Amino acid sequence: AVGVIMFNGEGQSGNHFGYTYDGQDIPAVAIKREAGLELVERLKTEEVNATLTVEDAGPIDKTSYNVIATKEPHKKKDNGQIVMIGAHHDSVAGGPGANDDASGVSAVLELAKIMAKTPTDTELRFMTFGAEEKGLVGSYHYASTLSEDEVERTVGHFQMDMVGSRDAGELIMFTPDGQKNLVTDLGAAAGARVAEVVEYGQLGRSDHVPFFQRGIPAALFIHAPLEPWYHSPQDTLDKISKEKLQEVTEIVGAAVYQIARPDTPALE
Ligand code: PHE
Ligand code: ZN
Ligand code: ZN
Ligand code: ZN
Repeated sequence: AVGVIMFNGEGQSGNHFGYTYDGQDIPAVAIKREAGLELVERLKTEEVNATLTVEDAGPIDKTSYNVIATKEPHKKKDNGQIVMIGAHHDSVAGGPGANDDASGVSAVLELAKIMAKTPTDTELRFMTFGAEEKGLVGSYHYASTLSEDEVERTVGHFQMDMVGSRDAGELIMFTPDGQKNLVTDLGAAAGARVAEVVEYGQLGRSDHVPFFQRGIPAALFIHAPLEPWYHSPQDTLDKISKEKLQEVTEIVGAAVYQIARPDTPALE
């Protein structure tokens, strides 16, 4: 079950809000300048069985971090695949970012916790990026650090951006080229819908784009139409529907599980 936490985010707008599992309300934790480092602490305390790294987000913003939590595959069943699950932990200046994108961060945390208990044949990378709002800075940086070998082994990137607003529409998936791919196939099998027409243009970019551009099947999970509070000071905790957040987390989790669990061939 998805509950609520608060953490201090990246950006100039003060407190940002996040959500996480088990219905526990965890009070705001000690303020650290970088939300990324705080998320690392969170992942550690929740006993997520993963190797954590914190990366700089790149040359533009030295105070931004990417948080990468890697869950190694089962040693005997390693099939060489990598699956990525991402969100962004920064928000726009002046917007608390409850839905954009603390909602996605909480879903990543939840999935990291759940999958920690499941031996998989696939390596999982749970990632939250910094400086998304400044032009996908964190994700472009991280995607640029991937070797050709890693790119080839990465079968999908699942991006969740704005997945908890009570005032937004239904869950859709879309891709930078408008085509279906393995991620949308798995998402559709789990209950998400591929958007037929998406006219968000540049706005519709999120951290899946840099991975897609490196040739990795990638899709954005988001609710459409957007809520009226998008990028405003009203993007606050009270607008979040735990039910919607839970639903998205379950759908993406089911999709990831289809490809990452032992002895399950990837959909072709
Ligand atoms: N990239 C947008 C943001 O983080 C989110 C978005 C995605 C908005 C798709 C519209 C459509 O603000
Ligand atoms: Zn770097
Ligand atoms: Zn945004
Ligand atoms: Zn966003």
